[in-house]
Amino acid sequence: MITVHGLYKSYGAHPLFQGISIQVEKGEAVVLIGPSGSGKSTMLRCINGLETFERGEVIVDGIELHSINSKRPSKQEAERIRNVRLKLGMVFQQFNLFPHMTVLQNIIEAPVRVLGMSREQSVADAREILRQINLEGKINSYPGQLSGGEQQRVAIARALAMRPEAMLFDEPTSSLDPEMAGEVLSVIRKLVDGGMTTIIATHEMGFAHEAADRVVVFDKGNIIETGPPTEIFTDPKVPRTREFLNRVLGRFRI
Ligand SMILES: Nc1ncnc2c1ncn2[C@@H]1O[C@H](COP(=O)(O)OP(=O)(O)OP(=O)(O)O)[C@@H](O)[C@H]1O
Ligand SMILES: [Mg+2]
Repeated sequence: MITVHGLYKSYGAHPLFQGISIQVEKGEAVVLIGPSGSGKSTMLRCINGLETFERGEVIVDGIELHSINSKRPSKQEAERIRNVRLKLGMVFQQFNLFPHMTVLQNIIEAPVRVLGMSREQSVADAREILRQINLEGKINSYPGQLSGGEQQRVAIARALAMRPEAMLFDEPTSSLDPEMAGEVLSVIRKLVDGGMTTIIATHEMGFAHEAADRVVVFDKGNIIETGPPTEIFTDPKVPRTREFLNRVLGRFRI
């Protein structure tokens, strides 16, 4: 469903990725972990066509994005980026809801404007999605009237309303207190259990352990280890993985 192959990416003179590859199958839930600055967000942004890269390719459901050498992608490249973004829902740490729009307006805006869906259909969809995440009662609220956890769930609903093939989450709970983080994680868990193809960058190791099919460990722009969560969390093979988990979980002696 999502393939990253031989990706090279620098920020100015600083190389970050030097030929990195990832493959995510349809229905798989992959969690990206690793120290701050190791490249998790950049990887998600490259997959979603939000970042340029120098070499390699990203393939999302058959659509290929190649390295873009100029600041201005060609018309065909821009079209491919647009199509990739239509296939992927992305949720960030900051909820990025439109503050002057109600929950309903936030959710139906893109389906109506971008997909050309009828207002009636998009409202019906929005109601159904909100029902699934227990936020039906907030349909006419403004973002400022919601808790952080509720706002993030609306951000997820907004992404789902575009009927994406896969969802990308970049630290969706790191600005929330634990209780609200739990509400958001259970919504993501439901999606994963329902078979949504999902990539999540997170520092929530408990969630990674429970929900991931596969964990990918980043360090300094490299993937240093990948495997099922039971293996990564109980018997990591790479010393740097142990060191990282030791730091965040306070276990594993090196
Ligand atoms: N716009 C940018 N310009 C220059 N350097 C950048 C930019 N964005 C990211 N970087 C650098 O790229 C590296 C990877 O950053 P990235 O945000 O992908 O890490 P991360 O794994 O998501 O970290 P965190 O866990 O803190 O979110 C870091 O060294 C960062 O400083
Ligand atoms: Mg990040």
